[in-house]
Amino acid sequence: MSGLSDQFERYEQEALAAIAAAQSTGDLEAVRIEFLGKKKGRLRDLQRLLGRAEPEQRPLVGKQFNAVKTRVGAALEQRQQALDRPQAELTALDITLPGRQIELGRRHPITQTIDEFKDIMGRFGFSVVDGPEIEDEQHNFIALNIPSEHPARDPLDNFYLAAADTAAGGPTLLRSQTSTVQIRVMEQTKPPIRIVSLGRVYRPDTIDATHSCMFHQMEGLLIDGDVTLAQLKTVLNQFAAAYLGHDVKIRFRPSFFPFTEPSVEVDMLWGEDWLEVGGAGMVDPNVLTAVGYDPDEVTGFAFGLGIERFCMKRHEINDIRRFYENDIRFLRQF
Ligand code: FA5
Repeated sequence: MSGLSDQFERYEQEALAAIAAAQSTGDLEAVRIEFLGKKKGRLRDLQRLLGRAEPEQRPLVGKQFNAVKTRVGAALEQRQQALDRPQAELTALDITLPGRQIELGRRHPITQTIDEFKDIMGRFGFSVVDGPEIEDEQHNFIALNIPSEHPARDPLDNFYLAAADTAAGGPTLLRSQTSTVQIRVMEQTKPPIRIVSLGRVYRPDTIDATHSCMFHQMEGLLIDGDVTLAQLKTVLNQFAAAYLGHDVKIRFRPSFFPFTEPSVEVDMLWGEDWLEVGGAGMVDPNVLTAVGYDPDEVTGFAFGLGIERFCMKRHEINDIRRFYENDIRFLRQF
């Protein structure tokens, strides 16, 4: 009896090893014939031995025999499915089908506008410079002739960085205007200067359809021997026409900025109304002196334009908040 059990066990082990080793349906069929074949093969040999068992032991060994046969049959079935699978996948793959289209992303409308602004101003002879978004009071206010009691320096009107205060040796803030770059460029360069600088600025303004707490400006600065307000107006008119078309209406409105004298507000006709799109003016002699220039020798103009507002006008976008919502239905229109 125990001899029979041993034979069952050896049979099962060898059958399972052969099944696992089969690499093709052909291999597996050969294994099937060897171990489970009905006419000849090792199962039949075992079955023959069953007949020789003692009659009272037959039910037990018969049960063992059936269990071994079922396990080997199941292993064979499982291996068969595994070998069939890659073939099934291969037939399901139609290599003549066109590939799946990959949807390309696009640049944000503000990025596109910035690139176009740089291009237009480049044609007018202005080169592009960058400046830091975290600024000190010297560049954001003092050198721009904005005294400490000026409302523009109110902590409630700016994003001061409290933690950086002592570490940097003085208060720092997120720049509230790109005019900071004027100072940085003049500190490092001798006249003549003809630059633009485009980037983010930050103000805790109340957010509405035309105001955001983070927005973009294009700063322009031209310093030379004999610069006039008429040249400033021409550059801004030409710029607006290049970006928005020749029917755009721009006007100058007298205003005040501590770092320009005279100063103007630049407005654009928007339907029936005028919308403010920037500030500009002739660089104040105090600013020229602060950076070591001689105001008797050089003059200049500067301007700062809201990039979002130009982009809104071009694309008839009626709410600035659309730019920052990351709604793909909005963004994929540009
Ligand atoms: C300035 O920031 C000055 N630095 C401009 C300047 C530069 C004057 C050089 C003279 C010489 P102002 O605060 O007006 O000015 O802002 C300029 C433009 O930025 C505005 O006309 C508007 O188009 C845009 N702007 C201002 N605040 C916001 C805001 N909260 N959201 C969106 N755009 C804004």
